[in-house]
Amino acid sequence: MGYRLRRMLEENQGRFVSGQEIGRRLGTSRAAVWKQVQTLRRRGFGIEGARGAGYRLLGRPDVIEEADLRARLSPRSSWKTFHILPVTDSTNSRAVALAESGAPHGTVVCADAQTGGRGRFGRTWESPPGLNLYVSLLLRPPVEPPQAPQLTLVTAVALAAAVEASTGLSARLKWPNDLYLGGRKAAGILAEMSADADRLRHVVIGTGLNVNADSPDFPPGLRGKATSLRIQAGRGFPRVEVLARFLDSFSDAYRLFLAEGIRGVLPEWRRRSLLDGKRVVIRMRGEDVAGTAVGVDDAGLLVFRREGGRGTEKLPSGEIVEFEG
Ligand code: BTN
Repeated sequence: MGYRLRRMLEENQGRFVSGQEIGRRLGTSRAAVWKQVQTLRRRGFGIEGARGAGYRLLGRPDVIEEADLRARLSPRSSWKTFHILPVTDSTNSRAVALAESGAPHGTVVCADAQTGGRGRFGRTWESPPGLNLYVSLLLRPPVEPPQAPQLTLVTAVALAAAVEASTGLSARLKWPNDLYLGGRKAAGILAEMSADADRLRHVVIGTGLNVNADSPDFPPGLRGKATSLRIQAGRGFPRVEVLARFLDSFSDAYRLFLAEGIRGVLPEWRRRSLLDGKRVVIRMRGEDVAGTAVGVDDAGLLVFRREGGRGTEKLPSGEIVEFEG
């Protein structure tokens, strides 16, 4: 209730709209309009009512609602089902459970907060409420299991495009799954797949993007390393807007991936690559190995030259624990 009224007030960008006009456009009485205003106020919308002038929007809570999200998505986006939750343990865990109970390709799980947000290598992902995006996509891609990890690169490219379009900033990508802004990490991607011997059953791709977090919102240990769109751009962003852009650009990148393979997406990855030619330390099977990140090959593997070693090797996964700034 109140969705059309809210859109009408938003369209009028802080100008008054008379109760009579609202009632006429919604096909309801002025008393019913007043009731809807009360409902929106209870949900955190600042709405000023003035006798003779009507109602105007002063402020809105930064909540993600399905109807609002759907209305912002391009018709070419093919997302089917949305689970928008106030809080969950981990949107990835939710999406995996949904996948196992038969949920379709194109299911989106998003939460305002996570109580057990998971990062790569068993780490936790800080997930306070009201500030950031925590979203997991359930895919059933028609590709072989060895290609599934390439979807992390597809997601990173889509996320970078969405962040850039929303903020005007330039995003850099750190292989395989981190998005950097101004030299600090603003987002991470956690892909989890389930496969039979030769068939991919599903892939869940979780993305955590720091949108409106400010420095004090991060735990002290992360403050020097993490950033957000707000910190970098100097202003906040409606999360639903950033999410809609991400879902649209993911649809585009995924379509390209299915049509041309990862090669189709790699130019967009490479032009944002943070590590090419840099000295790095990679943790491989518990051991830290120093060398140079030469680049990403046509299959999305990291081409790495060990310090003092001859030739290069190709890494399907790994953790870059240090890199040249
Ligand atoms: C990393 O950089 O280590 C990956 C972080 C991935 C975090 C996201 S938040 C949404 C989804 N749900 C989770 O529990 N994790 C991912």
